[in-house]
Amino acid sequence: MEIIRTPAEMTAWANRALAARETIALVPTMGSFHEGHLRLMRKARERAGRTVVSLFVNPIQFGASEDLGRYPRDFPRDCQLAEAEGVDVLFAPEAQTMYPPEASTRVIVSGLTDVLCGRSRPGHFAGVTTVVAKLFHLIKPHFAVFGEKDFQQLAVIRRMVADLNWDVEIIGHPIVREVDGLAMSSRNIYLSVPERQAALCLFKAIGQARKRVRAGLVEATLLLREIEELLQQAAVTVEYASLVDQTTLQPQAVLGKGTVLALAVKVGATRLIDNDNLFEEG
Ligand code: PAJ
Repeated sequence: MEIIRTPAEMTAWANRALAARETIALVPTMGSFHEGHLRLMRKARERAGRTVVSLFVNPIQFGASEDLGRYPRDFPRDCQLAEAEGVDVLFAPEAQTMYPPEASTRVIVSGLTDVLCGRSRPGHFAGVTTVVAKLFHLIKPHFAVFGEKDFQQLAVIRRMVADLNWDVEIIGHPIVREVDGLAMSSRNIYLSVPERQAALCLFKAIGQARKRVRAGLVEATLLLREIEELLQQAAVTVEYASLVDQTTLQPQAVLGKGTVLALAVKVGATRLIDNDNLFEEG
């Protein structure tokens, strides 16, 4: 596996790969790999001849009070894991090369970024779309794989790609969970043992919602009341529990195909998100 550290070398690699008529798949990450990231890499490898994983803790998507400074980092371990997955290139640039002092451009998707996580994290999605746009330009992938764990992020990136007529296929990957149902996240290592237990309320809420939907419930307000009660019983602070359309992210009064239950809670100091497309099999 090749480790590339600068945008210029990354582009040179991509140009060589394209000249050799290779197909390129990209998996953007912030490192601290868990099984979720590794599955995305596997999916990328299935789709393209060359797989690039970017590992960049993107400073501009973190708010001033967020965990940029203490975001988990373990570069040697990440290198080993990516290499074992057969990744061709690990692109791990320094922040100064991605954002030199004079950089002043942001890629902004409006509307979709004002709701759900966008409410409590102003500027977050502009940081995500800006870095993903830069990665797409540097790496020129035919495919890019993103996890459904961050389902709003996925919807925002799909919007950006469609709006800017980008010739890259966005591939979603289902949420990868621990055996007890907790969605894997680099931030799970922040959780104490009781917090880890409390965090399971997210998966319980999804299970409850699926059960009620299977039994024929279609009224969103009724289901949301039940879900909020369930979450309030756990030692967590609910940031939002919403039933929204998977593409528009608008609240749904009547549940149906494409309705996603989206959840964000704080467990101690750790913010966790989860979601489920309630009418999809699973
Ligand atoms: P990061 O949190 O490292 O996640 C990288 C990719 O892994 C994202 O597409 C995310 O949705 C996916 N992922 C994380 N946990 C997952 C899980 N349990 N199951 C399935 N997929 C999972 O998301 C980011 O980084 C950044 O915002 C990034 C897109 C790299 C831009 O900086």
